[in-house]
Amino acid sequence: MRDYDDEPMQRPKWIAWLIIIGMILVVLGLLNLGVRLYIGTPSDQTTAQRVQAMAEASPELAQAQATLESSNCMRCHGIDRKFVGPSFVQVSDKYREQADASAYIARKIREGSVGVWGNVIMPAHAQVTPAQAESMAHWILAIPPAP
Ligand code: HEC
Repeated sequence: MRDYDDEPMQRPKWIAWLIIIGMILVVLGLLNLGVRLYIGTPSDQTTAQRVQAMAEASPELAQAQATLESSNCMRCHGIDRKFVGPSFVQVSDKYREQADASAYIARKIREGSVGVWGNVIMPAHAQVTPAQAESMAHWILAIPPAP
């Protein structure tokens, strides 16, 4: 008969894997947060102030900004940083003078877009209601032009 007493207790392998996967998830989470904080922050004080002043001036726009920030938009769009998609300042500058701009933008938000700014696809956002899309469009168009 063999004696197993002095064999060290084996820790099951899956615990090690669980710890490694957990650490990878934490790192990915921090990177994602870092990228989001970076894109979401305007690159200069003037833009930050312009956008803040605009939201303070109108509860409707403040509400629209909150919806935009809690939606996934800021993963791909910065206020004034071009990232996966154009910055909201760029979009605002492009359409500010266009008569049907807010209906056009609201439709693009819900249906998605490709080919206007490049070959990267913006996915459709069917979960955004038409009213929410309309108010996000108002917010984008209300960004004051750079002085
Ligand atoms: C997965 C990345 C991604 C997400 C998420 C995203 N967009 Fe976009 N968006 C893009 C890209 C890429 C374009 C450029 C598409 C093109 O060239 O037509 C774009 C274009 C736009 C345009 C300009 C459309 C035009 O015709 O000029 C608006 C407005 C816009 N996005 C708003 C939003 C809003 C609001 C949200 C959140 C509800 C959002 N986007 C979420 C990637 C994204």
